[in-house]
Amino acid sequence: MEIRSVGVVGAGQMGNGIAHVFALAGYDVLLTDISQAALDKALTLIDRNLERQASRGKITPEEHQAARGRIRTTLTLTDLGQCDLIIEAATERETVKAAIFEDLLPHLKPETILTSNTSSISITRLASRTDRPEKFMGFHFMNPVPVMQLVELIRGIATDDETYKTLHQVVEKLGKTAASAEDFPAFIVNRILMPMINEAVYTLYEGVGSVKSIDESLKLGANHPMGPLELADFIGLDTCLAIMNVLHDGLADTKYRPCPLLVKYVEAGWLGRKTQRGFYDYR
Ligand code: CAA
Repeated sequence: MEIRSVGVVGAGQMGNGIAHVFALAGYDVLLTDISQAALDKALTLIDRNLERQASRGKITPEEHQAARGRIRTTLTLTDLGQCDLIIEAATERETVKAAIFEDLLPHLKPETILTSNTSSISITRLASRTDRPEKFMGFHFMNPVPVMQLVELIRGIATDDETYKTLHQVVEKLGKTAASAEDFPAFIVNRILMPMINEAVYTLYEGVGSVKSIDESLKLGANHPMGPLELADFIGLDTCLAIMNVLHDGLADTKYRPCPLLVKYVEAGWLGRKTQRGFYDYR
């Protein structure tokens, strides 16, 4: 099946990055969220990031304008019904994601492929609540989407080969690299990355190092582009906690126990860059 139009649900940091890369690759994009303010903010960020790529010679000004022209927005979720591919990139809560698919289903074309950008929730379970589990897949982008090369492709138990092949071709057209992961909690990237971030928070909690020394150690000692605490702030501490909870519940192993300090920060509303405060103060 050839994909031409893509509906992106959720205009947050992942959703706007996904809209950006699809538009740049020539797809028609329809982006939706629950408030006009969220859509306006997303368009401003997309423009800024396209501009950044143009100013560094990665794309031409014409490509910037063409990509921007391919992105439309709507506040009405059901407007996405005619898209060939749906990418759900809403809040990392299963009830929210399930409700979005439930609302969309009666308006979809029979051939539309459904995907979720979930970083950890079971694809098989999300798919089982739709009318097309064979056309449902995990489609997991990394943040910042315009920069990161990888896309995880996660098949649910019922996903058919045609759906997998179609999405693999889409990833190639985006100029990115697909990695296949089986449908187990947090897949590959977050199965490995999140316990490392959680361990960095324990290292802070137990007084082994300061925020600065922990981050510098991993940057200078292991060549990571960002320290683990800086990266946690970048991803969002609520997202990090949600993923640790999925690992802890799904694999029933105490090695995935979320650090109490991570829980406390999230309870305080210190979610990282998006709230101007996390392990660092951005105010
Ligand atoms: N849009 C477009 N381009 C962007 C961008 C964006 N949002 N953010 C950065 N860039 C570009 C810059 O323009 C720059 O381009 P050039 O190479 O052409 O100069 C390049 O990316 C590097 O950016 P900067 O020079 O501003 O800053 P940097 O060198 O410190 O890199 C970074 C920034 C790319 C974010 C780097 O720090 C990094 O790779 N960090 C780790 C990110 C990471 O691990 N992401 C995965 C998180 S896990 C995840 O996403 C999964 C999940 O489910 C939670």
